Amino acid sequence: MPKTVFSNYAKDVQSMIDYVGGAPLVIKLLEGTQGLGVVLAETNNAAESVIEAFNGLQARVIVQEFIKESKGADIRAFIVDGTVVGAMKRQGKEGEFRSNLHRGGSANIIELTDEEENAALKAAKSLGLGICGVDMLQSSRGPLILEVNSSPGLEGIEAATKKDIASTIIRFIERNV
Ligand SMILES: Nc1ncnc2c1ncn2[C@@H]1O[C@H](COP(=O)(O)OP(=O)(O)O)[C@@H](O)[C@H]1O
Ligand SMILES: [Mg+2]
Repeated sequence: MPKTVFSNYAKDVQSMIDYVGGAPLVIKLLEGTQGLGVVLAETNNAAESVIEAFNGLQARVIVQEFIKESKGADIRAFIVDGTVVGAMKRQGKEGEFRSNLHRGGSANIIELTDEEENAALKAAKSLGLGICGVDMLQSSRGPLILEVNSSPGLEGIEAATKKDIASTIIRFIERNV
C-alpha cells in the first residue's frame, strides 16, 4: 500500500502529514466511493486545513502518500476464485488525478505483470474474497494496493476486456452452492 495513516479526529494533524512524507498528499473520506471525498492537497497548509475541516465535521479520514508517477491512472484486477479473469487500466480525464470511471475516466484492457498479478491475488486471499476487484497504483517501487472491492461492478471491466465475466461468476457460485 502507499504509506497510509488513519485518524479518529486526531488532534496532531502535523504528525499525520509528516508520517506520509508531507505534501502533496491525498486525503480520503473513510466512507467515500466513486472518487467522491478523495482530495489531493498540494501543500502542507492545504493538507492541514482540509484535515481540520473534516475533523470539525466529525468525518473520519485516511491520509495517504500521493503516488505521482501513477499519472492519474490505476489498475483494476478482477478476481474470481483465485484467478485474475480480467484487468484494465483506468485513466482519469485531463487534469484529474482520480481515475474513477464515474469521474470521467476511461478504461482499457491491460496485461498485468507477474508482480501486479501476485499482489492482486495476495490481497484477495488476505481478505478471503472469492470475487473482488483489486485496485492498484503503478509506482516506482512496484504495484501498490489502493483498495479491494467486494462488490465490483461488471460494466467497465466487461466493456474494456470484452469478456463475459458474469458467466464466470455464476459458474463459481454454482460450484460452491
Ligand atoms: N495515494 C494516491 N496517489 C495517487 N492517486 C491516488 C491515490 N489514492 C487514490 N488515487 C486516485 O484516486 C482514485 C480514487 O481513490 P480511491 O481510494 O480508489 O477512492 P474511491 O473508493 O472513492 O474510488 C484512484 O482510483 C486513483 O486514481
Ligand atoms: Mg476506487
